Order: sequence, then C-alpha cells, then structure tokens
Amino acid sequence: MAIPAPAAPRGPYLRVADLRVRFSTSDGVVRAVDGVSFEVERGRTLGIVGESGSGKSVTSLAVLGLHDPKRTAVSGRILVGGRDVVGLDEESIRRLRGRDMAMIFQDPLSALHPYYSVGRQIAEAYRIHHPGAGRAESRTRAVEMLDRVGIPQPAKRYDQYPHEFSGGMRQRAMIAMALVNDPDLLIADEPTTALDVTVQAQILDLLSDLQAEFHSAIVLITHDLGVVGQVADDVLVMYGGRAVEYGSAEQVLRRPQHPYTWGLLSSVPSLHGDAAADLVPIPGSPPSMINLPAGCAFHPRCRYADRTRDRAYHDVPELRQVRERGHLVACHLPEDLRLRIHAEEIADAGVA
Ligand SMILES: Nc1ncnc2c1ncn2[C@@H]1O[C@H](COP(=O)(O)OP(=O)(O)O)[C@@H](O)[C@H]1O
Ligand code: SF4
Ligand SMILES: [Mg+2]
Repeated sequence: MAIPAPAAPRGPYLRVADLRVRFSTSDGVVRAVDGVSFEVERGRTLGIVGESGSGKSVTSLAVLGLHDPKRTAVSGRILVGGRDVVGLDEESIRRLRGRDMAMIFQDPLSALHPYYSVGRQIAEAYRIHHPGAGRAESRTRAVEMLDRVGIPQPAKRYDQYPHEFSGGMRQRAMIAMALVNDPDLLIADEPTTALDVTVQAQILDLLSDLQAEFHSAIVLITHDLGVVGQVADDVLVMYGGRAVEYGSAEQVLRRPQHPYTWGLLSSVPSLHGDAAADLVPIPGSPPSMINLPAGCAFHPRCRYADRTRDRAYHDVPELRQVRERGHLVACHLPEDLRLRIHAEEIADAGVA
C-alpha cells in the first residue's frame, strides 16, 4: 500500500505576529519594528510599502533570520511553513534559507561574488541544498534557471562574471539563484529600485510569471506604490516601524483610509491619474526610531491630527478592521469622517 505524502500545512505559508525588532546603539534603543503582523499564502504577493526608514528591510531580515543576535532583540512569532523561526538556532535557519525561503535584494552585486562565474554561483546554491547532486546536474539546473529568467544564450552566460552582466541581467541572475531550489517563500527587497523603468517592468513581469509557475509566497518590499500596484495581491503600509494600513491591494490602493496612505498615493504619478501636475509630496520627514512621536507617530505630518480630539497626540492608534472585512487601519478618525475626507480630496484633485 502506498504511503500517502504528508499533507502540506494548511493556511498561510508565512505568518508574522506581533513582530518587534530592537537594536541597541550608542544613541539609544532603535525600535525599528514595533508590533507588526501579516500573513502570506502560497501563490500570493504581499507588498510592504512605506518611505525609507519605516522598518521594511528590518522586517524582511527578521523573517530570514539575518539579524545579529548579539545586537538585536527580535520578539513575536514568525511562522514559516508552520515553524517558528524566532530564536531558531543558526544551523536550522541556514537550512531553511535558500531552500524554503530565498531573497532578492536591490543590489545584485552584494549577493553575487565578483570572482566566480554567475552560473557557478547558481549551481553552488543548488548543491548546498542537494548534496547528492553532481557537477553536471547542478550545471544543467543552473543553465535551465538562467534560461527561465530570460537570459539569452544561458550556456554561454553561465561562464561569465557578474561584471559582464548588465544591471537588469544581474537582477535576473539573482532571481535565478533565489529560485534554483524552488523555495516556498521569496522575499524581494526593493528588487527594481536600481533599474530603469523599462527593465523594472520586465523584472516585475518576470516575478509574476515565475510565481504562477512556482506557486511561492512572495513578499515584495518597496517604497514605490506604483510597483505594488502592478504586482501585489495584498498591501501592508508601514510607518515608523508600525503597520498603519493593511488589506487587499484593491482596498488599500483604491479605498485607502489612512492619511499616510493618502499621502503616499498622491505622490505617485502612475496611480494618480495621467497628469504629473498635481503630485503632492508628504510634508516633513519620517520620524526617528529612537524617539517616535507620542500617540500616532504620523501626527506631526498629518493634516487631520487636530480632528481627533487630541487623541492623536497621546494614544497610539490600534490597527482595527474597518467595515470591509480584511481591511485594517490605524487611525483615530472615525471611519465615516475618513471616507468623507478622502472623497473630498479626490474631488478636489480632480481625479476620477
Ligand atoms: N543594524 C541596525 N542598527 C541600528 N539601526 C538600524 C539597523 N538597521 C536598521 N536600523 C534602523 O531601523 C529603521 C528601519 O530601517 P529599515 O528597515 O532599513 O527601513 P526601510 O523601510 O527603508 O527598509 C531605520 O531607522 C534604520 O536606521
Ligand atoms: S490618528 Fe490622527 S494623526 Fe494619526 S493618521 Fe489618524 S488623523 Fe492623522
Ligand atoms: Mg529597506
């Protein structure tokens, strides 16, 4: 009698609950991530957005177990395929990394070694997690992956070095390396930020295609809401190390309810209608993570702070579900008032 394969764990592949990450520095304790929760199912893409310094990369590094435990306090739960990686020993997390979860960074040169051929590095990434694989098999697998990510003449390109690749091709090679072991979770941190717009669109298309094929859970981190609009199923908006809005891409991008999300959206040309004329940057700058403003951390930059009967200055707003299921917002304004303000703003900006 055939033995049935173990059932894949049900529910989201990645579950992060109340994640907190703190760094001790000579200036004080940096609360880089302060109670963030989200989940991602296989086959879905979560976009994490926020301005620079909002805690996006620190969140992703925590999922990958890449923080230095001596200087960093990580708490909360990070379940990857049902296993909690918070506090997992280095050896176990190394085994998960590259096999069950992989990463793509903004700068492929930081991930690719300059002295080894690109193909050899991909083949090595394969061999680490397939110790039985011989040289020929690993090479074949690496060439297949180079081909799959759209690198022309993959067998020839296998032997070339990172500096012989263009920026876009290097990013493709890094994607090939990340996917060579067919990971269930892929974390891409600003993967297209360094690329020009055309190449950026190609890489995003490639990620979508590969996801349909590999069926992995993807976390895509970016400061660019336009990028998120192209590929994300769900969106988490971070500010000052906290989640301020969370929901489906449709909810967050089409029916946003947090003043910070409104600000981000009105500074993005592609989501704001056709004219670049009305783009409005958010005034002020992101807060210090050592000394977050009391209450709602966004209040010094928020036009509506004085409409919350001073609560914005004292109470940290909790992330709460609004009327629509699955849509969460952390703002003291009553929902009806938020909806009214937003409708008026859109009318004023003349955007349909
Ligand atoms: N290793 C570290 N030590 C101290 N502070 C850090 C460290 N890494 C990140 N930070 C701080 O944590 C905050 C969040 O950073 P980060 O997650 O990189 O932001 P981003 O949203 O731009 O990716 C920033 O204030 C940053 O300066
Ligand atoms: S709680 Fe107040 S300050 Fe914070 S986003 Fe809402 S309206 Fe603005
Ligand atoms: Mg970052």
